[in-house]
Amino acid sequence: MAEEMRIVLRNYGKIDPLKLEEYLAAGGYKALEKARAMAPTDLIEEIKKSNLRGRGGAGFNCGQKWFFAQQAQADKKYVICNADEGEPGTYKDRLIMQGDPQSILEGMAICGHAIGAKQGYIYCRGEYPYVVDILKQAIEQAQDLLGDFRIEVRAGAGAYVCGEETALIESIEGHRGEPRFKPPFPGVQGLWGKPTIVNNVETFANIPVILTKGAEWYASIGDPSYPGTKVLTLTGDVNNKTFFEVPSDTTVRQVIFELGGGIPGGKQFKAVQIGGSSGGFIPESLLDTPISFDALAKIGATLGSGAVLVMDETRDMVDVAETIARFFEHESCGKCAPCREGTARIHEIISKIKDSQGRAADIALLKKLGGVMSIACLCGLGQAAPTPILTSLRYFAVDYEAKL
Ligand SMILES: Cc1cc2nc3c(=O)[nH]c(=O)nc-3n(C[C@H](O)[C@H](O)[C@H](O)COP(=O)(O)O)c2cc1C
Repeated sequence: MAEEMRIVLRNYGKIDPLKLEEYLAAGGYKALEKARAMAPTDLIEEIKKSNLRGRGGAGFNCGQKWFFAQQAQADKKYVICNADEGEPGTYKDRLIMQGDPQSILEGMAICGHAIGAKQGYIYCRGEYPYVVDILKQAIEQAQDLLGDFRIEVRAGAGAYVCGEETALIESIEGHRGEPRFKPPFPGVQGLWGKPTIVNNVETFANIPVILTKGAEWYASIGDPSYPGTKVLTLTGDVNNKTFFEVPSDTTVRQVIFELGGGIPGGKQFKAVQIGGSSGGFIPESLLDTPISFDALAKIGATLGSGAVLVMDETRDMVDVAETIARFFEHESCGKCAPCREGTARIHEIISKIKDSQGRAADIALLKKLGGVMSIACLCGLGQAAPTPILTSLRYFAVDYEAKL
């Protein structure tokens, strides 16, 4: 039986999140003390050695990103915690922020020491007003320990694209949340043009443990290419609609059938979408893939935020694809034409197929359009929008054929 391993959720449910003394009693802020006694370059080397990769979706090597920002010369640098969590079906960052907010603040302060930043921001999903309150209280309580590293909270306004790091930066600056061209990457030129680290909540929550227990310990957990654990949130047609933190070599099958308790009502499994709306669909034949970044990428899927949406045999993939296509049309910010027009056209074509008005040529058009969008769109929103559509076409073509 697959088992949970709690690193990020180490204190979840065990301490009162609004009692700093309980976080301290659980070993809190020892890692920051240790980090501040280290030279920034040694600290970054340690994070690199752990091979921690971002938990926000792109899977970039955390230490490498910090290194770029540390090397950049500037009078000011910034640390941003991405707590936008707009991905449907995902609530792992909320769990961490509600259950153990100090672990995020400590991770951010360690990053501040590593890159030479004195100011941090937490950009929190606007639909989590109660979490914003918790974060503000936690910051106030920890100010003495954080020293000259200041953290402010900014609430988003419900746009999915604002989770994209450069749109998020635009939003903090007070502009409309639209992505920037990359490069330059935020590590070199980010908030107000200064070197800026943007990391996910779960990424920051890993940092204190890595420093306390050592990079080698961390690197030995799970799949070596994406070590550590992943917090997963299970939704859809699964018995245990809850969250789990598991080592990254746990397979999708173990997650659904062991931890998740399988499919309710004696029904058969049909598909699972991992990583939220932009994730690919996985059929039964590929369930033995580990929930690790590269392993999922190899089969055309994504780990993304770690949302696990299970679908039973009664689900029609064309229906599901239409809902997702509608979401992307709505959430496209409109800045670049391939996404603005592409998401609308994908939705239009799929709606036609769903209404049994489609032709075989529409399938070919969807594939072509999806291929173009994945390389031509400005940001990850448009680049990933075709993924669920293309994987549903690849693995569940029979559902489309039935509608044609
Ligand atoms: C449309 C879109 C939405 C995103 N939403 C989030 C989000 O809610 N939270 C997050 O951490 N990263 C999100 N990302 C990824 C960020 O751009 C960025 O890669 C991440 O914050 C980097 O942190 P990490 O390296 O710790 O993962 C999103 C990306 C895209 C394209």
